Amino acid sequence: ELAPNGYLRPDGSPLTVIAHRGASAAAPENTLVAQEVARRASADWIENDVQPSRDGVPFVLHDTTVDRTTDGVGRIRDLTAAQLKALDAGSWFAPQYAGEKLPTLAEQLADLRTRGGNLLLEIKGAHTRDEVARIVEVIRAERMTSRVFIQSFEVDALRHTRDLAPELPLGLLRGSLDADPVALARQLGLTAYNPSGAALAARPDVVRQLHDAGVAVLVWTIDSPHQWQSLEQADVDGIITNRPAELAGWNAAY
Ligand code: G3P
Ligand code: CA
Repeated sequence: ELAPNGYLRPDGSPLTVIAHRGASAAAPENTLVAQEVARRASADWIENDVQPSRDGVPFVLHDTTVDRTTDGVGRIRDLTAAQLKALDAGSWFAPQYAGEKLPTLAEQLADLRTRGGNLLLEIKGAHTRDEVARIVEVIRAERMTSRVFIQSFEVDALRHTRDLAPELPLGLLRGSLDADPVALARQLGLTAYNPSGAALAARPDVVRQLHDAGVAVLVWTIDSPHQWQSLEQADVDGIITNRPAELAGWNAAY
């Protein structure tokens, strides 16, 4: 049996607000400034993506290359931590963010520990067991185990996490629904099943099935009040959004 799940939204309580890549509509995604803006917007959780540098340091970055969100070029897995740290990760978004750096996972967690906030950490792309072990090591070294929730599209990354750190809650990201999400949740030991909004719209009844099994539902990536309302009525637990301030305001007014 799955353990009772503290991530399920009690009846009538507000949706959990999860800031996608930080407050990524207002600040450069996956940076500490985007995290700070999300914190000020009263986001309950911050979502970020993690991948290793060439020398094995977990960095916070969404794309497989640095091309779109920095002034550099190349695959993150081909660049050392020192090379990644030399990049400007803010100018591409707006001149006022010039000089913003790509954070390491350790820096991001230290910022959350000292200033507040919880992390929904996406293990982005296939990771070896050793690469997942490095992520777990950083989370433990920063004493943030109780404030990190792991999610991934990669089933193997979740299996590695479960083996290495059974204390971390796990969410499976899905772009389309499985035939039997409950069976998969039980098999993988999931705390949450995290479908895209489009995937869930086809079968909103799966929310009830997952809840009956003690599994939370966090939906991505939804920015419009019209969809927030549909998802609230479908009884999902949380919403991953680029607009956390607006969702927090909508929650308060709804
Ligand atoms: O949190 C879900 C969402 O982040 C998955 O898509 O591409 O933004 O990582 P992506
Ligand atoms: Ca993500």
